[in-house]
Amino acid sequence: MGHKKIDKQMKQIEDKRSKDRIFKKDSSFLKAEENVFDVPTLKLLYTFSNKGYIHELGGSVSTGKEANVFYATGEDGEVAVKIYRISSATFKAMDPYILKDPRFTHIRHNRKDIIFAWTQKEFQNLLRIQKAGIRSPKPIICDRNVLIMQFMGKDGISYPLLKETQLDEEEARLIYAQVIEAMRCIFVRAALVHADLSEYNILIDTEKMEPVIIDVGQAVTLNHPNAVEFLIRDVENIKRFFKKYGISEETKDLLKRIKQRTEEDDNFSAEPEEETEGQKNETEEQENETEEQEIEKEQDSNNALK
Ligand SMILES: Nc1ncnc2c1ncn2[C@@H]1O[C@H](COP(=O)(O)OP(=O)(O)O)[C@@H](O)[C@H]1O
Ligand SMILES: [Mg+2]
Repeated sequence: MGHKKIDKQMKQIEDKRSKDRIFKKDSSFLKAEENVFDVPTLKLLYTFSNKGYIHELGGSVSTGKEANVFYATGEDGEVAVKIYRISSATFKAMDPYILKDPRFTHIRHNRKDIIFAWTQKEFQNLLRIQKAGIRSPKPIICDRNVLIMQFMGKDGISYPLLKETQLDEEEARLIYAQVIEAMRCIFVRAALVHADLSEYNILIDTEKMEPVIIDVGQAVTLNHPNAVEFLIRDVENIKRFFKKYGISEETKDLLKRIKQRTEEDDNFSAEPEEETEGQKNETEEQENETEEQEIEKEQDSNNALK
């Protein structure tokens, strides 16, 4: 989309306060991220800004296959803003994780709906994982293709990936034990399987030597037909990474450990909140020409989440 068109549409929705706050500093930001910031996404960022979730949008933290992550500050302190690209060419890869998830069987199978449902799913999964007592970003709000969560890091620098962290053998053992315990809690307490767990989706708080689990959009409930297959793959990934530190356990023993319940687990419920903060439709009014269809669609996908 050309800049002229964006500028024109921006004028219509201009809100001085949020405009000054978010975009005054760096208009090249917009240009560079044109791909991410389509007009509805920009409007949504304005809305989040007006509501105080974002005071200042900072730099890019990551550009992934489907989503970009930005650093921002807001009323909740440092936050990470994950924006799924509607134009993402690889969205097909999401299908097996979402279309067979019983929570999402009713969504319409078009690109935008899948991406919106995916964002909701990541928000819900983060909530469940948080409630299970696992260190992970606290979800703050989500709508459409944008998810705002706690920033895991300090002063704008995110914790390093497990992949990038130098560990001695003792530290590796410490992290390994905590990762396996996190997998157990995800399974037993949150009733989920991460389904993309590896050294790329675990951050390390090097001060506390604690792992932080991220990127849970694809996590599936235990009744997903491929849940066990995904769990085995997660276990194999973790085993492969820690092998170089001389850690090796049989897959079957690990699976047994991960499925083991303790009495303490009974204090944690797997069910998500009745109506989560993130499911509010902040911007239903934004696409006037298709407003009714949009609302209907969003209601459909919200119904599918209940
Ligand atoms: N809440 C967060 N706090 C700090 N950094 C984050 C957060 N979420 C993601 N990141 C950073 O962004 C990168 C990509 O995020 P991730 O959720 O893994 O998305 P992708 O689907 O692109 O892999 C991560 O590797 C991490 O460095
Ligand atoms: Mg990732």
